[in-house]
Amino acid sequence: MPLKVVFATSEVVPFAKTGGLADVSGALPNYLKKKDVDISVFMPNYGTIKHFDFKIEPIEGMKNIPIRLGSKVTTYSVFKGKIPNSDVDVYLIDNPYYFHRGKIYTQDSDEDERFILLQRAILETVQRLEWKVDIFHCNDWQTALIPIYIKTTYKWDKLFENTKTLLSIHNMAYQGVFGGNSFLKLNLDSSLMQKEGELEYFGNVNFLKGGILYADAISTVSPTYANEIQTPEYGSNLDEILRRRAGRISGILNGVDYDVWSPEKDELIPFKFDKTDLSGKVECKKYILEQAELDYDPNVPVLGIVSRLTSQKGLKLISEIIFDLMELDIRILILGSGEKPLEEFFRKAANTFPNKIAFHTGFNNELAHLIEAGSDMFLMPSSYEPCGLNQIYSLKYGTIPIVRKTGGLADTVQQFMPKTGKGNGFVFEEFSSHQLYWTIRFALKTYGNLVDWSKIVQNAMSEDFSWDKSADEYLNLYKTMQMFY
Ligand code: ADP
Ligand code: GLC
Repeated sequence: MPLKVVFATSEVVPFAKTGGLADVSGALPNYLKKKDVDISVFMPNYGTIKHFDFKIEPIEGMKNIPIRLGSKVTTYSVFKGKIPNSDVDVYLIDNPYYFHRGKIYTQDSDEDERFILLQRAILETVQRLEWKVDIFHCNDWQTALIPIYIKTTYKWDKLFENTKTLLSIHNMAYQGVFGGNSFLKLNLDSSLMQKEGELEYFGNVNFLKGGILYADAISTVSPTYANEIQTPEYGSNLDEILRRRAGRISGILNGVDYDVWSPEKDELIPFKFDKTDLSGKVECKKYILEQAELDYDPNVPVLGIVSRLTSQKGLKLISEIIFDLMELDIRILILGSGEKPLEEFFRKAANTFPNKIAFHTGFNNELAHLIEAGSDMFLMPSSYEPCGLNQIYSLKYGTIPIVRKTGGLADTVQQFMPKTGKGNGFVFEEFSSHQLYWTIRFALKTYGNLVDWSKIVQNAMSEDFSWDKSADEYLNLYKTMQMFY
């Protein structure tokens, strides 16, 4: 019998995306399906999802199902479609009031209700479908309560007798913390909210904490991050809770969907290329510089950034050395949106140095692909990075990553050594602008040496981080979990 898995998530490419979680949710289930796992994806039916384009349809008999959120009763309906180019079913939980808000995450005062509804609705739907689920694979705080519900509210149901829960943590900094009153919306036993109860967190409710304590297993998206989060520096105040579960924590590196992110197949770039013929990369560089209204010069490297603009990504280090960087012969292309001060900084920098910097704000998938293809180097000086996908995409496009040695960046990028010719990027350890600056200088020096540069580009483009291997690791984990009691 194939394993029956429900993959619960708040974002999935191509339906809804803010970051890497969507890329993972849109690819991993497909690779598991190919390994004979009977997997279905569950997510909210955001108002921005185009049903017609994706052939998404309502499910008969799954309309206006009542659900209780504290003392309030609301309803939900279920739609169904497929993840494009796959055989994976996706079930979309619909409630226009909660999910048609123009964006995936909000600052609204009922943000907790939106994701409590999602999780209760997933469980109720699975019950109605009478699925004997082997594994609920949950992702981040938005689905971290499922392990609790399975072991409390739904414990009576024989359907879930042998069900196990896996919580994958993509980012410890987002925990789903809400005021104490939020607990009343959960319809759970009050002991969970007593001082030091599983959901209690300085008088507030913490969804992720509860998930960590109740899940049968916990995974994070790189081996290094799995260790880091058990330390005070990276644990975002939950390191002690994580250490309690140390035996059940593992790290599985994210993979890449090379059908989408590789220069030989990429549908969004104007010139394709591969490691045996890089002429298309030169054309992409010319093309994107023209778009950005910057001059092309083969001797001048382009440094790319595609990022959520948050403190996690370490971009303030760039702001600290911007004047020193502008004395170097480089171009910088930035695509990002997020925190206003960072947006403001990049906007100002581009205005001050219009011949060297171009900044585009907003979310633009096509431009993200173009920057990967047309840049020579990719900057990711993150203060922490659970996995990071852009540096892995960069490798395949021969766009050499410059990264800080943390989390998944440490697991995927190795310092280039001119003497041995080994290494696929440039790495610095201490989170300081000084270190970043000298690492960029070293990268520029290497760029100036044709032999070294072509070696590093070949090393990078030869790397293989396809999902296949990581999907095997998840499959092994699912099987191991079945033996837990
Ligand atoms: P995180 O999930 O922390 O944002 P990752 O590196 O894992 O970081 O994944 C980021 C994903 O989001 C990548 O696919 C990247 O191309 C994409 N991305 C980030 N910002 C933008 C943007 N402004 N426009 C388009 N894509 C973006
Ligand atoms: C998070 C992390 C990122 C990771 C992504 C997908 O957004 O910040 O490092 O790659 O999730 O797992």
